[in-house]
Amino acid sequence: MGKRNILDILTESKRLPQVIMPKDAGLVVAYTGVCPGWKVLDVGTGSGWLAMFMANLVNPGKVTSYEKRKDFADNVKEQLKKFGFTNLKIINEDIFTAIIKGKYDLITVDMKDSEKILNKLYEALNTGGWIATYSPHIEQMKAVKTAMLTLGMKEVRIVENIVRDWKAEADFTHPIPSGIMHTGFLVVGRKTK
Ligand SMILES: C[S@@+](CC[C@H](N)C(=O)[O-])C[C@H]1O[C@@H](n2cnc3c(N)ncnc32)[C@H](O)[C@@H]1O
Repeated sequence: MGKRNILDILTESKRLPQVIMPKDAGLVVAYTGVCPGWKVLDVGTGSGWLAMFMANLVNPGKVTSYEKRKDFADNVKEQLKKFGFTNLKIINEDIFTAIIKGKYDLITVDMKDSEKILNKLYEALNTGGWIATYSPHIEQMKAVKTAMLTLGMKEVRIVENIVRDWKAEADFTHPIPSGIMHTGFLVVGRKTK
C-alpha cells in the first residue's frame, strides 16, 4: 500500500464508544466549509474519530477536544502518539464545568444534552464561525435547532447523509440490500454577529 491516509488511520485506531463515520464528517465539511488553518473545538472526544478527521483536515490549524471520561481520553491520547498527530489536544474535563480558552471557527458537538451546552459554546465562537452537532435522535436534533435559533444563529440547517453502496457486476447492477441505514442528524448554525 502507498502512503497511509486518515481513513487508514481511523480504521487502525482503537475504537471505544460509537464514532462519527467519515460520511458524516464529510457533511460537516460540506456545510461549514471548514478547511486548513481553522481552529476547531470538538466536544465529546469519544473514540476520537471526528477529532482526528478534523485535525488531519485543518492542519496547520489546531483541534482541541473535550472528553469527560478518563479511559476514553487516555485511549485517544495513545492513538495520537501512535499515529503522530501534533495539532490535536485532548482535555479530560466535563464541558459543563470546563473553562474554555480562546475562540474557535468551528465547534463540533457529539454528546448527550448537547442542546444544553450551546449557550456556553456560542461564547467561544468567532463571528462567522459554526457550531455543528451530531444527534442520533430526532428529539435531540429538534432541541438543538431550537437552541440555535434562540441564540440568534443563522443559516441553521438539518441534514442527514444516507449512503447506499451498489453492486455492479457484468450481468446485473443493484443497490446492496443491507447496510447501515441510520447514523445521525447533523445540525449546523452560524454566528453572524
Ligand atoms: C458518541 S461519543 C463521541 C464520539 C466521537 N465524536 C467520535 O467520532 O469518536 C460521545 C462522548 O461524549 C462524552 N461526553 C458526554 N458528556 C460529556 C461532557 N459533559 N463533557 C465532555 N464529554 C462528554 C462521552 O463520554 C462520550 O465519550
